[in-house]
Amino acid sequence: MGPEPAAVGAAELSAYVEGFLGEDDVLAAARAMADQLGCAPVGVGGGAALRFLAAALRARAVVEIGTGVGVSGLHLLRGMAPDGVLTSIDVEPEVQAAAKRTFRAAGIAPGRTRLIMGRALDVLPRLSDGGYDLLFVDAAKTEYPAYADHGVRLLRPGGVLAFDNVLWQGNVANPARRDAETLALRELVRVVREDDRLVPLLLPLGDGLLLAAKTG
Ligand SMILES: C[S@@+](CC[C@H](N)C(=O)[O-])C[C@H]1O[C@@H](n2cnc3c(N)ncnc32)[C@H](O)[C@@H]1O
Repeated sequence: MGPEPAAVGAAELSAYVEGFLGEDDVLAAARAMADQLGCAPVGVGGGAALRFLAAALRARAVVEIGTGVGVSGLHLLRGMAPDGVLTSIDVEPEVQAAAKRTFRAAGIAPGRTRLIMGRALDVLPRLSDGGYDLLFVDAAKTEYPAYADHGVRLLRPGGVLAFDNVLWQGNVANPARRDAETLALRELVRVVREDDRLVPLLLPLGDGLLLAAKTG
């Protein structure tokens, strides 16, 4: 027999999980900057998951699609091996400049970040097959299925794909919602679940984090 169910609602439970690990002043400042620039960062729980994954994989090479102001990037860098390099892609020069400031404020050596400005689907074909331990996606939702295709190619065996916002505020689970972003995310979830090369996991952290480990 387990304990009596507590009178705690879904929102309180979610706040408890998200707040399990806090964030430091550098990340707090980056979140404030993200607010000013209108560029929503990964949630606190999602950031912790990224740091955990990077550490568990002992990641030395990570690709991020959607640098933003560097909240997710800093979590990744803090989990990676000390000499690990984060390659991060974004179309917006202003947010990448802000991300540079975030990494500098956190004392990250400049050689550990490779920031590439451009559209992800133009940049990804230039990255090496099998060269990466982890790929994190947090950019144009309609392009997520195409990012997944590239991701499988870029990962080494045992590497992990991670996609943020896959619940899309609940829209993905609501069949009545059929806008382009929701349809693309629903397609992504289906494709990842049905791909024999991947072991998938859907985590209800923040706005939903879809993970998939590449088996071979
Ligand atoms: C949600 S924000 C990323 C937040 C960041 N991951 C963080 O936690 O701080 C999404 C970013 O994706 C970028 N973006 C949107 N479409 C893109 C595309 N097609 N290629 C590359 N970057 C894109 C935007 O400029 C924006 O900075």
